[in-house]
Amino acid sequence: MQTLDDKYRIFDEKNKAAELGGGTDRIEKQHASGKKSARERIADLLDPDTFVEVDKLVTHRSYDFGMEKNRILGDGLVCGYGKVDGRLIYVFAQDFTVFGGSLSRANADKIVKITKLAMKMGAPLIGLNDSGGARIQEGVESLAGYADIFNLNVKASGVIPQISVIMGPCAGGAVYSPALTDFIMMVKDTSYMFVTGPDVIKTVTHEEVTKEQLGGALTHNSKSGVAHFTADNDEQAMMMLRELIGFIPSNNLDDAPVRPCNDNIYREDEKLQTLVPADPNKPYNIKDIIESVIDDHNFFEVMPLYAQNITIGFARLGGFSVGIVANNPEYMAGVLDINSSVKAARFVRFCDAFNIPLITLVDVPGFLPGTSQEFGGIIKHGAKLLYAFAEATVPKITLITRKAYGGAYDVMASKHIGADINMAYPTAEIAVMGAEGAVNILQRGLSEAERTEAIEDYRIKFANPYKAAELGYIDEIIKPRETRFKLFQALEMCRNKNESNPPKKHGNIPL
Ligand code: HXC
Repeated sequence: MQTLDDKYRIFDEKNKAAELGGGTDRIEKQHASGKKSARERIADLLDPDTFVEVDKLVTHRSYDFGMEKNRILGDGLVCGYGKVDGRLIYVFAQDFTVFGGSLSRANADKIVKITKLAMKMGAPLIGLNDSGGARIQEGVESLAGYADIFNLNVKASGVIPQISVIMGPCAGGAVYSPALTDFIMMVKDTSYMFVTGPDVIKTVTHEEVTKEQLGGALTHNSKSGVAHFTADNDEQAMMMLRELIGFIPSNNLDDAPVRPCNDNIYREDEKLQTLVPADPNKPYNIKDIIESVIDDHNFFEVMPLYAQNITIGFARLGGFSVGIVANNPEYMAGVLDINSSVKAARFVRFCDAFNIPLITLVDVPGFLPGTSQEFGGIIKHGAKLLYAFAEATVPKITLITRKAYGGAYDVMASKHIGADINMAYPTAEIAVMGAEGAVNILQRGLSEAERTEAIEDYRIKFANPYKAAELGYIDEIIKPRETRFKLFQALEMCRNKNESNPPKKHGNIPL
């Protein structure tokens, strides 16, 4: 008969074996390639000593290809729950040291189990991806596992925040779980994502491309718009993740955490008085306004390298979390195009789904003209942003800093699509189009001198915020130096906003 000592020894041995995953050699190989192990990543992410592992002793159930002789406790996935800044978080981390982190049926069941727990308890789900994809030895069972995960990703969308970090390979259909989640972070040099890899591409299209060019962190953060954040290494990724989680609520019925605010809410900034140039053709960086007015100048930008003509991200105002959407005249004059519309629309929908008020800063000359935009479907993509803003029922506060022209005026959280408070700087220009364009259409055949005069007349008459203010489309014209307090007052006024859209199964956003 086993003694008590025997029983505890077996318990210890099993735990130790599970914790070693694929073994020390493979962990060292992981380190040598610049990556941390699954457990180290989880330890970096969570508050110390808060991780509770679930399914540590699960093994795969495969008998093909001699797999029955090779069972590793945990089966290449470390998962469970813990805390970030004292708040409950669910996490899974694929362990590349065990069968290349590949997804077995048992391994998928573990992800399904904690996703269901996260949904029931209303807490964010974080996935740390580092995997060779479907467990080849398990065939369709692995594919079924992926589909179960995709299905739950969709069910959980808008209920709990889901965040994916790509920390190694993520290829084939495996990319679709991260793609269904709210945010994707990628680690530079060690991560890549693609549906089909360089070899298949070479065979099919004869293109030659490296893994990094095809699906590295820079590609997806600057070219494809698939990813939202880049981290320099595993450690920085976990730090950024902790910061991101701090801005968002645990679930769709919760509010985002409010932090004590030590930054004077009445703080004025004289620099803002002259930041927006009088010359409407001169650029400036909208981030200078954002960083000036938010708490501690701390802006957590989302997709900073993609469609930079629009700036999006999280910040706090008086301790309250807000989502900021701002045209950035520093890039392409802040014009709205396909990429910027889609980028902002998805962010607006995230904020709306998770009760994060929206602050919109407007300086937009209109939609980008051109065949590539029209052929690419700017009509339906621009409509996404319009739809997202109109659908959003969270507090919506809009400030026009300079240009708000044409359809883009309507789209950028105008009063007419439901903004709660609309403000403008005295430098605002709210009109159907810029003065030159308007005069070209309305008064053809003028001499150069007459044209200059007509442009100036138009500018004086229309390129200002006063007509819109007379009509009540702008609630208040404010001094730039007071922006921080003015935005805070509006936000505070909207604290108990209670608005809902008509009941429906779901809308039909122009996809
Ligand atoms: C089982 C796998 C595996 C997999 C890797 N391994 N991928 N085992 N199923 N999918 C194992 C390897 O056999 C190896 O085991 C160990 O993991 C480490 O792999 P290496 O190849 O030595 O590592 P590395 O050189 O870093 O290359 C990593 C890799 C490569 C690029 C990911 O392993 C690879 O190409 N794997 C196959 C990827 C793939 O085609 N997956 C299926 C994609 S289709 P040993 O014991 O030798 O150390 C797919 C469909 C999903 O995923 C569909 C969802 C709907």
